[in-house]
Amino acid sequence: MSVDVVILAAGQGSRMKSKLPKVLHKVGGKSMVQHVIDSASSLNNESSNVHTHVVIGHGAELVKSSLEGQPVNFALQAEQKGTGHAVAQAMPAVAENSVVLVLYGDVPLTKPETMQQMVELAGSGDLALLTVNLKDPTGYGRIVRNDSDQVVAIVEHKDATPEQHKISEVNTGILAVNSNLLNEWLPKLSSENAQGEYYLTDIIAMAADNGVAINAIQPNAEEEVQGVNNRIQLAELERWYQLQQAESLMVNGATLADPSRIDVRGNVKIGQDLLIDVNVVLEGEVVLGDEVVIEPNCYLKNCTVGAGTRIKANTVIEDAVVAENCDIGPFARLRPGTQLAAKAKVGNFVETKKAIVGEGSKINHLSYIGDAILGKDVNVGAGTITCNYDGVNKSLTEIGDNAFIGSNTALVAPVKVGATATVGAGSTISKNVSDDALAVTRAKQAELKNWQRPEKKEKGN
Ligand code: UD1
Ligand code: CA
Repeated sequence: MSVDVVILAAGQGSRMKSKLPKVLHKVGGKSMVQHVIDSASSLNNESSNVHTHVVIGHGAELVKSSLEGQPVNFALQAEQKGTGHAVAQAMPAVAENSVVLVLYGDVPLTKPETMQQMVELAGSGDLALLTVNLKDPTGYGRIVRNDSDQVVAIVEHKDATPEQHKISEVNTGILAVNSNLLNEWLPKLSSENAQGEYYLTDIIAMAADNGVAINAIQPNAEEEVQGVNNRIQLAELERWYQLQQAESLMVNGATLADPSRIDVRGNVKIGQDLLIDVNVVLEGEVVLGDEVVIEPNCYLKNCTVGAGTRIKANTVIEDAVVAENCDIGPFARLRPGTQLAAKAKVGNFVETKKAIVGEGSKINHLSYIGDAILGKDVNVGAGTITCNYDGVNKSLTEIGDNAFIGSNTALVAPVKVGATATVGAGSTISKNVSDDALAVTRAKQAELKNWQRPEKKEKGN
């Protein structure tokens, strides 16, 4: 079966009060229109061949460039003359005898299963309509049914009679129908209505007249069909989305201290028996192994964390790979290119960048380790800095297995410290240190016996 998904995204969204086109505002770190595209793309399977069309208008160039490289076809609707007119702009690129599924760039969270159901109904010749019953249906198109409960029309709020205003079943806008029928009906739409627009919804009455079965189904949750017109609605959908992410983490084996205080903005894969405390943000591609513990207020982006690792409070990890049983933080910052082998420790106020840290090595306090390769069981004392940047170029620091770097050492790269070497505290190491050697550059301590402290001068002198 051929499926053409038409996503309407030409509207202005003036109530967002934003320079950004509405459909580019994000839910869970991903633009709303991208959510719709991704969900629709999951309709692609052995029996369905899906093509996606995005109807753009306001902010067309921005929407287009945000979707660059993706297999979508753009149809420009230069003037917004209504939803029927919008769908018509995409039709020249839609295959014959194909199922057309109409979706909305500002309705981001419709489930693929709901879409699938609609496609199947339309595939069997029906017009599939997604409707919902609302306590307050004001503003929505109403679903008009006949005496035998069959859908016969949709009337827009502004065109409805007082009697029709009482109907609580409303049109979500989402529908699916064969493209041959759409091509027959769309040219017949008229704009003689309260808004002077070509309403897509007028095809419902045409379908009823043509004897096409109209099959109205409902989504499992109202949020699936909730559109975003302003930032309050955006925040409501964000919270609903986040609660679902939290539930999926719990279902898969993570204990969350508070499901309403974790945010997922990407794809998270987890093992079992994780513990995640409050105010944790997981972004991009994140993989967390069995029994990982994440203490409060941590931010993890694009990283892999091995089983049994503990990430203590207020730690930031970005583009890093952490092996099993490591101990990180509190207040650690692992920057891009950090790789920690098993049982490594990175403690408070330590920043690492492009640092490869061997098994069991420790950088426990107040250090900067950048552009560095550390062997196994290295001990880096408090306040150690790799001086990796000379103002022009970055250089590498290499530290061998079992080396001991005394506190407050400056390692002036490029430099190598040999295996089992020792560097005395307070040294500035600018030459390589041999294996097993002690290197120390500390100034000799001087002492003046019976030193007299200065005395305070009298005031007024
Ligand atoms: C539409 C439906 C209404 C339904 C409601 C659900 C019609 C005529 N009415 O009304 O029955 O209850 O959605 O939210 O379809 N758009 C374009 N080009 C246009 C017009 C609209 O791309 O020329 C896009 C908008 O960007 C928006 C969507 O279509 O994403 C819906 O348009 P909108 O004008 O908000 O329709 P409603 O009046 O809300
Ligand atoms: Ca709307």
